[in-house]
Amino acid sequence: MKSIVIASGNEHKIEEFRAMFKPLGIEVIGMKECGEMEEVQETGATFAENAVIKAEYLMKKLNQPVISDDSGLEIDALNREPGVYSARYLGHDTSYELKNRTLVERMKDKTDRTCRFVCAIALARPGHPTRVFEGIVEGIVARQPEGGHGFGYDPIFYYPPLGRTLAQISEQEKNAISHRGKAMRKLMEFWQHEEVAD
Ligand code: IMP
Repeated sequence: MKSIVIASGNEHKIEEFRAMFKPLGIEVIGMKECGEMEEVQETGATFAENAVIKAEYLMKKLNQPVISDDSGLEIDALNREPGVYSARYLGHDTSYELKNRTLVERMKDKTDRTCRFVCAIALARPGHPTRVFEGIVEGIVARQPEGGHGFGYDPIFYYPPLGRTLAQISEQEKNAISHRGKAMRKLMEFWQHEEVAD
C-alpha cells in the first residue's frame, strides 16, 4: 500500500498521521484532497462505532484504504458525559473556555472525579475486515482549568502520575501517555506485523 486517506478535515490530525507514516514511505492524504468536504455524521453510540462508520463510508466510496478516529472525554460522575458528544457539547462553536468552566461547575460537589480520554482509530481496507485500535488515559477532573498547552478539555484533565493537567505538559510528554498516542502505537504495531503495506 502506498497511500492512505484520513477521514477528517482536521489538518492537525492529518499532520499527525502524516508524520507517523512518513518513515514507512506511505503517503497520507486528507479527505479534502480527494474532493470529500463533508465529514460523515457521527451517529454511533461509542467512539469505536463512530470511527468505523466514518472509515468504512469513505473506504467504500473511494475504494481505498481509509483511517478514521474518534475521541472524547468521559466523566464518570456525569454518566460518562460529554462522551461521544465531546466536540458537540454545548454546541460545536462554543469555546472550550466555556465548555471547561461548565464542566468544572457541574462537578463542584462531586466526590467521584474520575474521568478518561478515549480514542478509537479504525482502519478500513477494501476486501479486509475493519480493525479498531483503542487507547485510554485515566485522570481526574481538575477543580479549575490550568495550563495553556494542548487543546479542548486538556486544561481540566488532571493526570495524577505527573501531578499536572494535560494542558501543563509538553506535546511530547502528552503523546507518550495520551489516548491518541496509545491508539496510534497500536495501529503502527499492527501495521508492521501484518505487513499491511503490500
Ligand atoms: P473528534 O475530533 O470528533 O474525535 O472530537 C474529539 C473531541 O474530543 C475534541 O473536539 C475534544 O473536545 C475532545 N478531545 C479529544 N481528544 C482530546 C485531547 O487530547 N485533549 C482535549 N480534548 C480532547
